[in-house]
Amino acid sequence: MPSYIGTATSRVDGRAKVTGTAKYAGEFGASDLVYGAVVESTIPKGRIVRIDVSDALRVDGVIDVLTHENRPHMAEAPGAWKDEVAPDVGSPFRPLYDDIVMFNNQPIALVVADEWETARFAASLVRVDYERAAHATDLYAVRDTVRDLQKPFKSSKPRGNASAAYAAAAVRHEAEYYIPIEHHNPMELYASTAVWNGDGKLTVYDKTQGVQNVQRYLCSALGLSSDDVRVMSEFMGGGFGSGLRPQYQVVLATMGALKLQRSVRLVLTRQQMYELCFRPATIERLALGATTDGSLESLTHEAIAVTSHYEEFARDDTTWADGLYTCANTNYSHKVARVDLCTPSDMRAPGATTGVYALESAMDELAVALKLDPIALRLRCYSEREQGEDLPFTSKALRECYREGADAFGWDKRSPEPRSMRDGSELVGWGMATGVWEALQVPITARITLTANGHAEVACATSDIGTGTYTVMAQVTADALGLPIESITVKLGDSTLPQSPVEGGSWIATSIAAAIGTTADAVRAELLRRAQQMPKSQLAGMSPDNVTLTNGKIVSKQNPSHSALIADVMRHGKMDRIVQETTAKPNDIGKYARNTHSAIFAEVKIDEQLGIIRVTRVVSAIAAGRILNTKTGHSQIMGSVVWGIGMALHEETLIDHRFGRIMNANVAEYHMPVNADVHDIKVIFVDERDDIINPLGMKGLGEIGIVGVAAAIANAVYHATGKRVRDLPITLDKLQR
Ligand code: MOS
Repeated sequence: MPSYIGTATSRVDGRAKVTGTAKYAGEFGASDLVYGAVVESTIPKGRIVRIDVSDALRVDGVIDVLTHENRPHMAEAPGAWKDEVAPDVGSPFRPLYDDIVMFNNQPIALVVADEWETARFAASLVRVDYERAAHATDLYAVRDTVRDLQKPFKSSKPRGNASAAYAAAAVRHEAEYYIPIEHHNPMELYASTAVWNGDGKLTVYDKTQGVQNVQRYLCSALGLSSDDVRVMSEFMGGGFGSGLRPQYQVVLATMGALKLQRSVRLVLTRQQMYELCFRPATIERLALGATTDGSLESLTHEAIAVTSHYEEFARDDTTWADGLYTCANTNYSHKVARVDLCTPSDMRAPGATTGVYALESAMDELAVALKLDPIALRLRCYSEREQGEDLPFTSKALRECYREGADAFGWDKRSPEPRSMRDGSELVGWGMATGVWEALQVPITARITLTANGHAEVACATSDIGTGTYTVMAQVTADALGLPIESITVKLGDSTLPQSPVEGGSWIATSIAAAIGTTADAVRAELLRRAQQMPKSQLAGMSPDNVTLTNGKIVSKQNPSHSALIADVMRHGKMDRIVQETTAKPNDIGKYARNTHSAIFAEVKIDEQLGIIRVTRVVSAIAAGRILNTKTGHSQIMGSVVWGIGMALHEETLIDHRFGRIMNANVAEYHMPVNADVHDIKVIFVDERDDIINPLGMKGLGEIGIVGVAAAIANAVYHATGKRVRDLPITLDKLQR
């Protein structure tokens, strides 16, 4: 019997996806289906004085226009709108709640018509008069209104005296870095289809990373009973954090269905997706002080990120160094400045993607000041224990990442002087950086149904946001039950299945693997109990630990000739199936820090006359425990590296601050890497044994791949040109100025 864990298993849902049988939220139909189109505000802040929908209603085919004046009932209490990942501080956005406008392109009406084109046309006829208020959307313009977090992070206590140690340090580097607003841009548009079932119940197909989160939210916000709403999301065309919180269109589609008592589909346009969530713009200040041999004496990391006026969204940018470097004197602070935009959101390794870009750029600048190889500096400061709480790591094979990454890249051939390497007319730059993310786990429940014909179904309400959850669930179940993977069916993305939190934070694969493990144990125990009831059982007296399941049999470990056919056991017990369900909680590992780590090496080639930057090679060496699936895992890291290239060189949401309006809300002008921008990417999984973190020794892979990539590229650009660009993206105009 093959073992699937650890192999390059192809996606079990791959065929459904490439043949188009996998259905996405905006593709579900119903005989009574009608279509919604959103009307958005054209001012960033103020009040709706008058909203005139009469022209829209006169269009042939228009069924209704919902506004704050005629919408169905919704909860008044802000707390009723808090989903499981909502910020603690503030009051969530409620679409069509009242006449207040809090950001430009805010949804203010929903037109429903028998055709989508009709709804869109009629939406253009809704006339709105506003009373405007003064607004601000530029982080630099509101920088002096910055404030401390109302709910501070646990981990930001200062150590020692960072400012005194900085003043006394032999070598110093201080600089400010900037990361603009960026957007998720998943391939699938944000979409919901609320299907009105005849009995007054709703099935809501939604693009979400958490069906049970959305289900509870809709019930709470719209006053529905739990039995009335089922939320489904079996496939998702990319989430990246954009679907962690319920998106506003799911509320609008559901309200429309409730008001009209029929099915409503609402698919946002690409442009509309830009005022729903985004990665906050952040200013990061780093101050590093070191001895002449490169020991860190002082480390200050301060971040200022934007949030909205109605919620305090913040992710920890500034304490990542605690997992990487020893330093006795540190000061971390994360502050927010409020702007008139929608609340920002999680986006691929939130906090780390931005914070570690700044930290690892600053470390590179310190290495230059010290005239030290960038890897040598990092090894000099290498921490064997997490610094914040002085904890051991469950595992930390970061040295191996540096070594194996450097070997694969050929780092030893680097000439340290900037501008010293060339390829024909192009400048060549080699840069590196470190990545770090948390190895998290969450409580989650798995149900296994094993049938007498040797087939098993494994079920959990988690999503598969494209990361490969279907496949890893099938692999782990197949191994645990000793069945071929073709005999496993995976059910997920349905709010009626066993409980799961949102899929995010790189926490689902390891968590569900643990739950499948305990559930399979329960299946095996039940089979053994039944087998021992058979006359002359060869398994008499054995405990579940003494037997395994393999090839459709329950087999003694000590004496493999002692066994029973699972089909016979079930027949004898007059059963056609065994159903077990267990919940796995995160392993109680005691006092350990748990992280994934990486080292990224980048080569850029830069045309000096034109300033064109190409990232010609990237090597990403990842330490993330045992890799469940080397094929889908490899793809996760590849995708992350591509996004890191985008962050370094292309991506930036541009706002016309006079109007508080996003100017490039489309995939033509919001630049993302395309095939021509992506060259050689090599992914290395270094061997990292972890006997503490969980029984399989695994860590999640969804997010670690992007962390540090932008810094490695920025450092390579410096090495190529001698010019340090500290505000992303590094566009050619910045190289020339
Ligand atoms: Mo991720 S930003 O937790 O989807």
